[in-house]
Amino acid sequence: MVMSLFFFYSFLCFVLLISLCFSSSFDHHLCSPTETSALLQFKQSLQVKSDYSLCDTSFPKTKSWNESKDCCTWDGVTCDVLTGHVIGLDLSCSQLVGNFHPNSSLFQLHHLQTLNLAYNDFYPSSIPHNIGRLTNLRHLNLSYSTFDGKVPTEISYLSNLVSLDLSYGFALQLNERTFEAMLHNFTNLELLSLFLVNISSPIPVNISSSSLRYVDLYDTNLQGALTENFFLLPNLEMLYLSYNDLLNGVFPKIHPSSTLLELSIAYTGISGEIPDSIGTLSSLKYLNLQQCQFSGSIPDSVGNLTEIRELILSHNHFTGHIPSTISKLKQLTCLDLLSNSFSGEIPEIFSNLQELRHLDLSKNSFIGPFPSSILSLTHLEYLGLSSNSLSGPLPSNAGMLPNLTELDFSYNSLNGTIPSWVFSLPLLSSVSLQHNRFRGLTDEVIKTNPTLKDLHLSHNQLSGSFPQSLVNLTNLVTLGISSNNITVDEGINITFPSLSSLFLSSCELKDFPHFLRNMKTLTVLDISNNKIRGQIPDWFSGMRWDSLRFLNLSYNSLTGYLPQLHFHNLGYLDLKFNSLHGPLPSSICNMSKLSLLDLSHNNFSGSITHCLDSMVELSVLDLRRNNFIGSLPPFCAHSTLLSTILVNGNRFEGTVPMSLLNCFRLEIFDVGNNAINDTFPAWLGMLQELQVLILKLNKFHGRLSSRKKFYFPKLRIFDLSCNKFSGSLPARLFENFSAMIKLDDGDKGEIKYMEQLSEYSMYEDSVSLVIKGHDIELEKINTIMTTIDLSSNHFEGVIPKTVKDLGSLRLLNLSRNNLKGPIPQGLQFNTFANDSYGGNLDLCGLPLSKQCGTSGSSHVPQPSESYFFSGFTWESVVIGYSFGLVVGTVMWSVMFQYRKPIWFVEFFDGLMPHKRRRSKKRALRRQT
Ligand SMILES: *[C@@H]1O[C@H](CO)[C@@H](O)[C@H](O)[C@H]1NC(C)=O
Ligand SMILES: *[C@@H]1O[C@H](CO)[C@@H](O)[C@H](O)[C@H]1NC(C)=O
Ligand SMILES: *[C@@H]1O[C@H](CO)[C@@H](O)[C@H](O)[C@H]1NC(C)=O
Ligand SMILES: *[C@@H]1O[C@H](CO)[C@@H](O)[C@H](O)[C@H]1NC(C)=O
Ligand SMILES: *[C@@H]1O[C@H](CO)[C@@H](O)[C@H](O)[C@H]1NC(C)=O
Ligand SMILES: *[C@@H]1O[C@H](CO)[C@@H](O)[C@H](O)[C@H]1NC(C)=O
Repeated sequence: MVMSLFFFYSFLCFVLLISLCFSSSFDHHLCSPTETSALLQFKQSLQVKSDYSLCDTSFPKTKSWNESKDCCTWDGVTCDVLTGHVIGLDLSCSQLVGNFHPNSSLFQLHHLQTLNLAYNDFYPSSIPHNIGRLTNLRHLNLSYSTFDGKVPTEISYLSNLVSLDLSYGFALQLNERTFEAMLHNFTNLELLSLFLVNISSPIPVNISSSSLRYVDLYDTNLQGALTENFFLLPNLEMLYLSYNDLLNGVFPKIHPSSTLLELSIAYTGISGEIPDSIGTLSSLKYLNLQQCQFSGSIPDSVGNLTEIRELILSHNHFTGHIPSTISKLKQLTCLDLLSNSFSGEIPEIFSNLQELRHLDLSKNSFIGPFPSSILSLTHLEYLGLSSNSLSGPLPSNAGMLPNLTELDFSYNSLNGTIPSWVFSLPLLSSVSLQHNRFRGLTDEVIKTNPTLKDLHLSHNQLSGSFPQSLVNLTNLVTLGISSNNITVDEGINITFPSLSSLFLSSCELKDFPHFLRNMKTLTVLDISNNKIRGQIPDWFSGMRWDSLRFLNLSYNSLTGYLPQLHFHNLGYLDLKFNSLHGPLPSSICNMSKLSLLDLSHNNFSGSITHCLDSMVELSVLDLRRNNFIGSLPPFCAHSTLLSTILVNGNRFEGTVPMSLLNCFRLEIFDVGNNAINDTFPAWLGMLQELQVLILKLNKFHGRLSSRKKFYFPKLRIFDLSCNKFSGSLPARLFENFSAMIKLDDGDKGEIKYMEQLSEYSMYEDSVSLVIKGHDIELEKINTIMTTIDLSSNHFEGVIPKTVKDLGSLRLLNLSRNNLKGPIPQGLQFNTFANDSYGGNLDLCGLPLSKQCGTSGSSHVPQPSESYFFSGFTWESVVIGYSFGLVVGTVMWSVMFQYRKPIWFVEFFDGLMPHKRRRSKKRALRRQT
């Protein structure tokens, strides 16, 4: 596209140059005084700002303008050879700044045929109506001249225009009438570029500009259906309609005489199938249909596009096989079928496609062996086959891929050994083989390869000792080898002097790998979920890892005291599920860059009352299941970023610290299973983001009812069970759970646990699994769980009728209190069974068998229809938002296996197709 524009402009310049030569060969005054003064007036109305340079070379052309010389010799001015009239003005890239006057003297130059004001800054002027007076204009270029507001209707009077360029018109609006008038009146128009102008209307039906060759309506907010009219223009060569997501309709039928060279309709709402007639576009060089709604298969006639260089069909719903006729497209440099539903084996068509540089077949349903004809593509630079179901081994001989820089075969079922060529291609920089079934690495020597930076081997079946054969990959930056059956022997001596990220989680490590001593540049280290026992060795804690940002030692069997760790820049420290004990060392409390600290499920003890004082960036704190004592630290006294506070299962006492009021981002607060002795912290209701509040099993007491309002606008999980709360259940409490009353689809209120760490999920899948595990589980909890548990307290009196209005309440437990009177009926309340109300002897009405008064129903619910989960504990919720995907999912399925209330089936079905965000991100990354 840029090239084509360039071509057009070069041509124009050529024409101008010729006329310029002619004009300057006449050495006498030709310029009329009126035109001279008009030009000088124009010059004076604007400023020149020398630091304003959008162009590579900008030059203040108007500087040379003065009366002592004939105006025809001024920079940028062209005169007619015979008449001496100014017919051309090229002030592009002239550093002009200022307000463009509506009655600018420029409009006195009636003879102007060419006006180029591109790349200047006229903001906030709008394009003057008087532009319509320059009716001799053939070329008008206002690209990137920062005009603002409406394009005047008068522009449509310029019926002699051959080229009109308003591109980069970020602030320009072109209304429907003017757009129509232009395409109706400009019968000689060849070039039209409105890139980024806001049109917000349909493509006009009536296009008289049959000479159009180049049309750029990229990102112009076009609406309505794509009509055939552009496709019928007899001279059209370039048509760009991409990034108009409101543009819909189907791919128009192609006219056999079409002259199209480039067609781009990516990122629009266009749907349907590619018509057979596509094959008639025999001159087409570029076709981009990325991210539309296309379906069906690729017609065989695509093989007639013998001139095509780039064929981009990614992110659609295409199905079927790759047609073998593609092998006729000998000019192809880019074939991108990423993220469709293509199936079958990948045909061996590539030996003919010798020009291919970019080949992406990822995220489809291809099966069968690795297509070895790919290995003959000598120009190939990118090769993506990930997320298919390819099986069998990789060919042992690579042939020639001298220019390949990135290969991605991840997420397939490839097996056998990884051949040496994968490591030794001369320009290769990134190799992704994770999530396959490779059992080993080549026995051959792996030679030094200075270009290889990223190597992903995680989630395979590699076994034995850490592959020493990688030792020659001296410039590795990222190495992922998690989830393999790999040990690291003490003797192994490997140095990766540039290594930044090392993923060795879920392997068979029994010790801290000694070779870590050689890796001084680490930023990310994950050796979680191994079999590392005993104390953290001194050499490890003594490392000077100033660059370390992420350390995951979770799920090992670490014992003893946690030593002082001097990793000052650590942002993420995960030690959960070990057996560490004793108080926290002061160095942890001094880690001022921590945003996540997870010490849960250890035996840490002591007080942490002042430990958080320096952690000004902390956002997730998980201390569950330890033996911490003393009062809760003053959360958010020093930072206000905390979004998750989990201290369940410790021995904290005292009251809930009022400093929590500063935690305006707080979403989850779980102090269950401690010894907090306080009244109900109703003031937490001021926290607008709070979704989970668990006070279970403490020494809370007193009445809930206060004359003040309860807020809690987003609360979804509310657990006060097993405390000593007393008094009646205040109607207001339930009234104000508006989130539960109205759970609208637009705001699912995602709890974004660990979102700030998602950058790491880009590094390696094993990490993303753990992190995304949380993520998925939290979203799940958050959508499913809208629950109130007030059981095992001393509440008394009647159940307020307002409970009934909590339309999206999924679990309610009021059992073991002293409630009486009728149970509210209707809505989902019919799905709560006996156990919701058990132990309240004076309650009556459905679902209890005890009737209220005498007129009650005699229907007694069947025990087998009981929808309440008597086995329900908060442990399952806690598991849900902490343990990650596997445990959580198992728990849920066990819980729901036998009793599936209808709402649950609906909910769960809705959840299954949850797309993992990682894949989305990848897709985005690819596009850029
Ligand atoms: C076409 O241009 C002429 C002047 O050249 C103008 O009078 C007329 O209104 C224009 N037509 C439309 C539809 O704008
Ligand atoms: C286009 O392709 C189809 C199917 O491959 C073929 O039958 C037809 O002859 C081709 N048409 C032209 C004009 O080449
Ligand atoms: C490899 O890339 C370089 C630089 O882009 C290019 O000059 C060379 O011709 C390419 N080689 C092949 C075989 O494509
Ligand atoms: C590799 O995969 C192929 C195709 O699925 C299978 O036939 C073969 O048995 C596998 N080999 C090994 C060693 O697992
Ligand atoms: C590393 O490369 C050198 C030559 O470049 C080779 O002699 C040596 O065997 C290689 N080491 C391994 C472990 O492959
Ligand atoms: C893991 O590797 C060891 C040898 O290193 C082997 O004995 C064991 O069977 C392997 N386990 C699996 C599951 O492959």
